[in-house]
Amino acid sequence: MAKTRNGVVAALDIGTSKVVCFIARVYGQGLRVVGIGHQAALGMRSGNIVDMEAATRAISSAVSTGEEMCGEHVREVIVGVSGGSPASHNQSLEVMVGHHEIGERDIRRGQQLIQLPAETADRDIIHSQAIGYSVDGTPVRDARGMFGERLGVDVHLVTAQSGAMRNLQVCVRRAHLEIADRVTAAHASGLSSLVADERDLGVTLIDMGGGTTSIAVFYEGNLVHVDSIPVGGDHVTRDIARGLSTPVAHAERMKTQIGRAVAKPNDEYDIIDVPLIGEEERTRPNHVPRSILVGIIRPRIEETFELVRSRLEASGVDKLAGGRAVLVGGASLLDGVPEVAGAILNKKVRVGAPLRLAGLADSTGGPAFSAAAGLLAYAQMQHAATQPASASQTEAPRGRIGRIGSWIRENF
Ligand SMILES: Nc1ncnc2c1ncn2[C@@H]1O[C@H](COP(=O)(O)OP(=O)(O)OP(=O)(O)O)[C@@H](O)[C@H]1O
Ligand SMILES: [Mg+2]
Repeated sequence: MAKTRNGVVAALDIGTSKVVCFIARVYGQGLRVVGIGHQAALGMRSGNIVDMEAATRAISSAVSTGEEMCGEHVREVIVGVSGGSPASHNQSLEVMVGHHEIGERDIRRGQQLIQLPAETADRDIIHSQAIGYSVDGTPVRDARGMFGERLGVDVHLVTAQSGAMRNLQVCVRRAHLEIADRVTAAHASGLSSLVADERDLGVTLIDMGGGTTSIAVFYEGNLVHVDSIPVGGDHVTRDIARGLSTPVAHAERMKTQIGRAVAKPNDEYDIIDVPLIGEEERTRPNHVPRSILVGIIRPRIEETFELVRSRLEASGVDKLAGGRAVLVGGASLLDGVPEVAGAILNKKVRVGAPLRLAGLADSTGGPAFSAAAGLLAYAQMQHAATQPASASQTEAPRGRIGRIGSWIRENF
C-alpha cells in the first residue's frame, strides 16, 4: 500500500472538474480519512491534461490542503485516471500441467504466455487480473489443488494511452509526489460505491463526471470491462449557455439549482429569469419558461446514455453487465438523470456514493467523491492481499511487462 512512514495512505483523483486528495490513516484492516483537499481542476479537458503547469498547480493545491488538515506529509499517491481513453483487452492462456496437482508454479508459468495485443503498442497497462480459470476446458472458480492436463486462465487487461499517462506522471512528479499505482476512475468508483452482491451478480457502474462518462462492468466480483465517453455534465452546462445565450457560470448555477432531465406538467408556466451574455448588469429581465431549460438538458442526457448503451452492446459484455446500473459522479446529481438512464439502458438504476469509509463529511461523501474514495478502497484491498510481500507494492509503476508479472503476484 502507498504508505508514508506514519501509516497513512493518499488518493488523488484528477478529474476534469475537480482534483480531490483523500489522506487516510490505517487502523488495523480499516481506513479513516483524516485529510481532505479538493479544488477546481485546472488545465483539464475530457479527463486529459491540456495545460501541464495549471494541472500541476491544482494537484499541489489539493494535496497541500489535505496535508494541512491532518498534519501529514504525503510522498506517494494512488492516482485516479479519468482520461487516456481506458480500454479493456481479454487474453486466454493455456498451460500444460501434466495431470499433477495445480499449484502456484503452474499459474506463474502462464506469465510467459501473455502476448500484448498489437493495439496496445502505444498504451500503458494499468490493470491486469485473472478473471476466470478452466481445467481441461471445464470452467472452475479456483484451479489451485485441482488435477488435469491443461490449465486455462482468462486475463482482463485495462490499458490507457501512454502519452496521457506520461503527462499525468510528469504533473504528479512536478508536484513532488510519486505515483504508487493508477486506477481508472470508474473501477475505483465501483470499489467504493457498489455492494458485494452487485459486483457478484453483474452490474454496470457509470461515473458521470464533468468531462467524461466512464463505465466499469463488474461480474462474479471482478472488474470485467471498462470504457469511457468524452461527454459529461460540462457539456450540459455549455448546451444551456449556448441555447439561452447566458454566461457559463449562470448556466452551471441554473443546471444544478433548477435543472431537470425530465419534464413536469407545469414547466410551461414556471418562468425563470435568465441574464444574457454581456448584459449581466442589466435591469431588464429576460423571462424564459422552465420547459425550455428542460428541453435543452434532456437530449444531451439521452444522447449520453444512448452512447453508453451502444458501447455496452458493442463490447459484448452487456449480458454480464446485468439488469442493474449504479450512477455516480457529480453529473448523476442532476434531477431526472436516473430515470432517463433507466429507460435508455433498460436497467434498474440507483445513484451511488462511497460506502463504508469513515471520516468523510456530507460535502465529501457524495457521488462526486466515489472515485477518490475508491482509490483508498483499492489501496486497502492491495494491502489485505499482499500483506507479507507488501514491499513490492510500494514500488513506482513498473514497465509493461513488469506490471504483467505483478498480476501473477496480486491475483493468485
Ligand atoms: N447538484 C448537481 N446537479 C447537477 N449537476 C451537478 C451537481 N453537482 C455537480 N454537478 C456536475 O457534475 C460535474 C462534475 O462532476 P465530477 O466532480 O464527478 O467530475 P470530475 O470527476 O471532476 O470529472 P471527470 O470524471 O469527468 O474527469 C459538473 O459538470 C457539475 O456541473
Ligand atoms: Mg471523475
